[in-house]
Amino acid sequence: MSTTQTAGTESHLRCIGCDATPDSAGQDFRCTQCGDLFEFVFPAWTFDPTSLKALWLNRRTSFGQSSVGQSPGGQSPVGRTSVGQSSAGKSASKVPGNRLDRSGVWRFRELLPHIPEEHAITMGEGNTPLYHLQSCARKVGVENLYAKHQGMNPTASFKDTGMTFASSSAHQGGFRWVACASTGNTSASMAAYAARGNMHSLVLIPEGKISWGKLSQSLDYGALTCQLRTDFDGCVRILNELVRQKPVYLLNSVNPYRIEGQKTAAIELLEQLGWEAPDHIIVPGGNLGNSSAIGKALLEMHELKLISRLPKLSIIQAEGANPFYRSVREFGGTKLEPMTADTLATAIRIGNPASWKKALRALRATGGEVEQVSEVEIAEAKAEIGADGIGCEPASAVTLAGLKKLRARGFVKPGEMVVLILTGHLLKDPDFTIKFHRGDLFTGTPEERHAVQAKSLQRAPIVLDADLGAVIAALDGAETNPE
Ligand code: F0G
Repeated sequence: MSTTQTAGTESHLRCIGCDATPDSAGQDFRCTQCGDLFEFVFPAWTFDPTSLKALWLNRRTSFGQSSVGQSPGGQSPVGRTSVGQSSAGKSASKVPGNRLDRSGVWRFRELLPHIPEEHAITMGEGNTPLYHLQSCARKVGVENLYAKHQGMNPTASFKDTGMTFASSSAHQGGFRWVACASTGNTSASMAAYAARGNMHSLVLIPEGKISWGKLSQSLDYGALTCQLRTDFDGCVRILNELVRQKPVYLLNSVNPYRIEGQKTAAIELLEQLGWEAPDHIIVPGGNLGNSSAIGKALLEMHELKLISRLPKLSIIQAEGANPFYRSVREFGGTKLEPMTADTLATAIRIGNPASWKKALRALRATGGEVEQVSEVEIAEAKAEIGADGIGCEPASAVTLAGLKKLRARGFVKPGEMVVLILTGHLLKDPDFTIKFHRGDLFTGTPEERHAVQAKSLQRAPIVLDADLGAVIAALDGAETNPE
C-alpha cells in the first residue's frame, strides 16, 4: 500500500447495464453498446481493514497544504487537440507533508481510482462535522439522530467531494474546458475547482429556477454562466449534445469520477462513528448521484470488512419532483417515467434522474426505503433543523421530513441510530428562509392553506424604532411567550 506517491488504486470501468468494460468512457459517459452508465470496479483490492483505518486517521493529522500541484512539472499528459494544455500543476508546495492527506476525499484514496498526484485539485474538502440533532430527535421520537453536514464543504455543498476528484480527472486529461448542467450547487462547485485548476468552466442552469447564492458563486468563480429558458432536464439535454461536438469535459454525476469522490462522505461518516454502522442513513434524491455514491461506499466498505453490517439507505424526494419514488412504489423499480418537476427545493427540481438505476441498486442492497414529502413538510423540517442551531438548504431538509414519515410507518424505530445527510448550507438559499419566516413562502400557491401548520416555527424579524423601551418590551414579550 503506497502512502504518498500514489493517489488511488487500480480500477476499471464497467457498464451497469451490459457489463461492458471499455478502456475509457466517451465524452458523454454513456456505454456505446447499451447507453447505460459506467461505474468503477476494483478487482485487485486486498486490504487489511485495521491498518487501512489507522493509515486514514494518521493522514488526518498531517499538515500538508491544500493547493494544486505539489510535484513540479506535473503537465497534463493527454492533450485534447483543440483545447490545449492546462497550466496547473506547476507550483510546488513549501509545506511539508502530503497535501492530499488533509483532504477528506483524497485521504481515502486507497478506495478511489488512481489519479496521479500532480493533477489533484483539492481545497481540503470533506472533513465535515457530524452533529447530534437534539431537539429534532425529541420531535421525531428517535434518540440517536445525527446530521452529517456536507454543506460545510468549501463551496458549501456536498458537490465538492465529487468535484475535487472529477475535476482532477479533467486536469489529467488535459482539458481546458469543463461543463455541467446544474440546479446550482454542481455549477458553484465546478466553477471553483476549475478556477483552482486553471481550467475554464461552462455552466448551464435553468433561468430563474436557482437561488441567488448559488448563481453568485459561479459568477464570482469566473464561469461562463448560461441561464437557459428551460428546466434542469432541458439543460442536461443541451449539454449532452454539446459534449459530442466540443472538447469539453462533462462534470455532471453521470461522470463516474464524481461518484467515486462522493463515496468518501460515507467512509468519513463511518470513521466518525468509530466504524459502527448506524441503522439508517437518509439522503435527498434529485439526480440520484449522491444516493448511488453513498450506497456504493457502504457496499464496498462491507465487502472490505471495514464495517460488519450495512445501514439501510433511504431516499427522500419532494412530492413535485418524485419520479424515483413513483418508479419504486408504482412500477416496482422496473421503469422510471420522466416528469415535469416542480418544487421550491430547487436543488432537487429534477424530473429525469440520470442515476436512478444505480440508486435503485443501493436501495435494494441495503434494504432502504423511498418516501416523498410535501412543500410545507420540507419548509417545516428546514426550520426545525435551523432551530437546532444547524441549518441547511431546503433540499437537505427533505431528509428530516422523510424521517418523520419513516418513523410514523414504523420503518425507523425509536432506539435506532439515524444519520441525515445534509447536502447544502443554510446560506445557499436565504430567500426561501426569509420568506418562510415572514410567512409569505406559500402566498398564492396551492400549499397556502396547509401552511398554517408551520406558523409556530416562524420567526419574523421585528421592525422597531431605535428605542430602548421598545426593545425591552420585545424581550419581555418573548420571555412570557417563548414559542
Ligand atoms: N441536495 C442538494 C443541496 C443538491 O444540490 C442536490 C443536487 C441534491 C440534494 C440531490 O443530489 O442529484 O445527487 O440526487 N443538485 C444538483 C446540482 C443536481 O446541479 O447542483 P443528487
